[in-house]
Amino acid sequence: MDMQRIPAREGNFNLQNYEKMRETFSWDEIKKNFSWYETGKVNMAYEAIDRHAEDPAKKDKTALLYSSPDREEKVTFDELRQRSNQFANVLKKYDVEKGDRVFLFLPRSPEFYAVFFGILKTGAIAGPLFEAFMEQAVRERLQDSEASILVTTPDLLERVPQEELPDLEKIILVGENNEVSDKYIDYASEMKEASTDFAIEWVDLEDGMLIHYTSGSTGKPKGVYHVHHAMIQHYATAEWVLDLKQDDVYWCTADPGWVTGTSYGIFAPWLHGVTNVVRGGRFSPDAWYGTIEQHNVTVWYTAPTALRKLVSAGEEAVKRHDLSSLRHMLSVGEPLNPEVITWGLKAFDLRIHDTWWMTETGAQLIVNLPSEEIRPGSMGKPIPGIEASIVDNEGNEVPPYQMGNLAIKAPWPAMMRSIWKRPEKYESYFINGWYVSGDSAYKDEDGYFWFQGRLDDVINTSGERVGPFEVESKLIEHPAVAEAGVIGKPDPERGEIVKAFITLNDGYQNSDELLEEIRQFVKTGLSAHAAPRELEVKEGIPKTRSGKIMRRLLKSWELGLPTGDTSTLET
Ligand code: WT7
Repeated sequence: MDMQRIPAREGNFNLQNYEKMRETFSWDEIKKNFSWYETGKVNMAYEAIDRHAEDPAKKDKTALLYSSPDREEKVTFDELRQRSNQFANVLKKYDVEKGDRVFLFLPRSPEFYAVFFGILKTGAIAGPLFEAFMEQAVRERLQDSEASILVTTPDLLERVPQEELPDLEKIILVGENNEVSDKYIDYASEMKEASTDFAIEWVDLEDGMLIHYTSGSTGKPKGVYHVHHAMIQHYATAEWVLDLKQDDVYWCTADPGWVTGTSYGIFAPWLHGVTNVVRGGRFSPDAWYGTIEQHNVTVWYTAPTALRKLVSAGEEAVKRHDLSSLRHMLSVGEPLNPEVITWGLKAFDLRIHDTWWMTETGAQLIVNLPSEEIRPGSMGKPIPGIEASIVDNEGNEVPPYQMGNLAIKAPWPAMMRSIWKRPEKYESYFINGWYVSGDSAYKDEDGYFWFQGRLDDVINTSGERVGPFEVESKLIEHPAVAEAGVIGKPDPERGEIVKAFITLNDGYQNSDELLEEIRQFVKTGLSAHAAPRELEVKEGIPKTRSGKIMRRLLKSWELGLPTGDTSTLET
């Protein structure tokens, strides 16, 4: 069963003794690092930005190193403090109150960060939307959250169906535009007039900070609700898992539209006042290696899908760059293939540390630490302060090597506090005191966890989570499509691809043109990552007698696997 093991290397790691830390650890100790330990009144924006800006030794330190193909910019902690204060003042001018939802639909840019922290400073709840979302995805999220203000660009505005968003009062436009009116507000001119002083709204630890939408196997995307309290886990894991030190240059490649891009692309480095690299533009091996080389990145957090592409680009691409600054690499989002780890040892002379967590968990839970042995293929062990286990469907723990539900003893600091407006959905995650993740896994006798797959129908394509129901719903909006069933099909590069089976309405003929048109329909209506890479026309879609699509059966057929129990199949 055991393959090769990769021992820890010598190093002055922040967390040297995992076992000891697990025994003595309490979250209360971590709280002592924060100004609010005494007062209980908190704001993430203060801890991540202003606190460093108030420190004479740090105020002029580079917080953000931004590069994109057409723009380079350095922003210090003090500049970020001022700009986020200005934006907070803009929001107050338009009557934003604590608890209001203010959404961002913006490309990765220096403005994003001023806006984001401006929102938090007012006590409002930020909702970052992934830049590649199309109209339906934007509509569902803005409707569900009842956001009153959206910050976007004139280009992206085309994908905002305003007539269908009655709660949306103002739209703040970043970038050149002619649309100034009662509803449209120009970012640049408002910022110019706004004061750089702002009195931060102090909130309670359990007050709302952030909503990230994510997909399940049924229903619309869920608004996963996070609170300021989460910061203690971002802080601790930045120290132990990212191993951040004051002079590190850190790069997390995730977009802030996803939770990795906020928890670890924003909070974790900045809670420690560490310089953070943000790269706009598309992926290419040379551009990515170039970013590491240009900024002397020392700690790099990325995803298996990108790493697999780097493996394909070969060691030649690595050798074209000086990557000697790199000292620590991590991965998240999908299973990290052992071959990628082996390649990393050769190409970078570094171990790649897998980490496991989810949008709902808010922060890392099961990880490979720099001071511990890596067992390639394993996600690692729970961080101090976290109890993880494998449970059966009743929430009873099962012995080592038995597969079951990967579960975490609730609560923990960064855990979601609710699903926006759907308390029953939130409750359904918990059984017998355990948060049940939806992943299947087993544990070995030394406490390492091994991922096996999803227990529900959620698709993970290139590390992005796609709900089959959303794709099916979009597909049947197309006039040619009668019924649709959507599955994840294994793929060597993307992990899984979205595959759709459809039946056609009378009068439509199966053709490559029609299938391409349907694909484009999903792509332009929902998002590129959700568009089926494969579409297949069938005579019928298997359903249960109660009308539920049997995705499992579709998948078994597709993969030529045994079909199991089909007794509920409608005939
Ligand atoms: C799902 C969560 C917050 C991380 C980014 C994704 C899968 C995540 C791993 C890993 C195998 C992983 C799981 C999980 N996943 N990390 N290290 N190994 N699978 O967040 O979009 O909420 O997706 O991603 O299936 O449930 P997300």
